[in-house]
Amino acid sequence: MSPSELLTPITIGSCRIPNRLLAAPMAGISDLPFRTILKSYGAGITFSEMISTEAFVRGHEKTRGILQRSEGEIPFGIQIFGGNPVAMAETARRLEAEGLCDLIDVNLGCPVKKVMRSGAGAALMLDRERLFRVVEGVVQAVSLPVTAKLRACRTSDDMMGLDLIPDLFSLGVKAVTVHARCVSWSFSRPPEWRWIEEATSLGRPLIGNGGIFTPEDAVKMVIKTRCDGIMIARGYLGNPWIFRDIQRFIETGAWEPVPLEERFDTMKAHLRLSLQVFGERQGIFRMRKHIAWYVKGLPLNSEFRRRINELHDSSELFREMDRYFERLKKKSLKSEME
Ligand SMILES: Cc1cc2nc3c(=O)[nH]c(=O)nc-3n(C[C@H](O)[C@H](O)[C@H](O)COP(=O)(O)O)c2cc1C
Repeated sequence: MSPSELLTPITIGSCRIPNRLLAAPMAGISDLPFRTILKSYGAGITFSEMISTEAFVRGHEKTRGILQRSEGEIPFGIQIFGGNPVAMAETARRLEAEGLCDLIDVNLGCPVKKVMRSGAGAALMLDRERLFRVVEGVVQAVSLPVTAKLRACRTSDDMMGLDLIPDLFSLGVKAVTVHARCVSWSFSRPPEWRWIEEATSLGRPLIGNGGIFTPEDAVKMVIKTRCDGIMIARGYLGNPWIFRDIQRFIETGAWEPVPLEERFDTMKAHLRLSLQVFGERQGIFRMRKHIAWYVKGLPLNSEFRRRINELHDSSELFREMDRYFERLKKKSLKSEME
């Protein structure tokens, strides 16, 4: 695929995605308010935070909350994780029966110890027999398209993740996302995009993931790997306009950093959604990390962040944002005049 094709639709099973810019599932982050913002800036598809199928079948309230989608959020993918084939298949069946999503993604790459101890996430890469039962069970339980997201390998000496790709497609998975890191690597280590390139010869559609922070990165990944779509994760934190920037870069060869006013308007719109969905206390709490990401790199941001973290009243929060915005505007006017 060429970079300009990133802006063309892709069909995964019965799910038509209007472009090939996917917004990754991120636990604690890709919740309904933030996904609404990501979608408004042009993400082709959004994914829920990963949900525990064990908790879902037990009827856990919190898990249910994760599954709400916003009105314009079409298509919407729900990512499930678990090591129990029965709970995985049953969850997929109920998700489809309740019409909660357009696509189901199976998490095969989560390296978190607690998740792996339960036989889920990246642990499934080490237990092929169980992995096949899980994936086959989910695929057979639904007519919705099922996709899988995995890390390329366990350690750089094996290619356990990549080796699984042909089998996943044979089992009926309709697309695979490869996060180009080993299970044992931390996020600070740069991904190895050549593994995505290798993966494209093992099965398609193949979505590349890892290390996209700018429109230039997006284009470079496609040129290097020839993948069929890209998935952005940390690159959208405090930077939801990355989807629009990529589009502009591909269409015109240039893109501009988001204007300060729009940055603040988006942060406030996000806060409003967070309050609506989670209420005053939770809504403020969940926004704190997002606010810190929105103001990353701006002058005087540490003082602003400190004040925000002390506030428990949303109207004060909005006032503090306006005050900070005015300070930044004055500062940039002053430096323009100097
Ligand atoms: C805080 C955090 C939460 C994440 N949650 C999930 C998750 O729920 N499901 C998943 O498949 N990957 C999850 N990931 C991994 C990302 O989706 C993505 O694969 C990874 O960050 C690499 O992409 P990046 O380099 O563009 O960030 C998470 C990553 C982070 C940093």
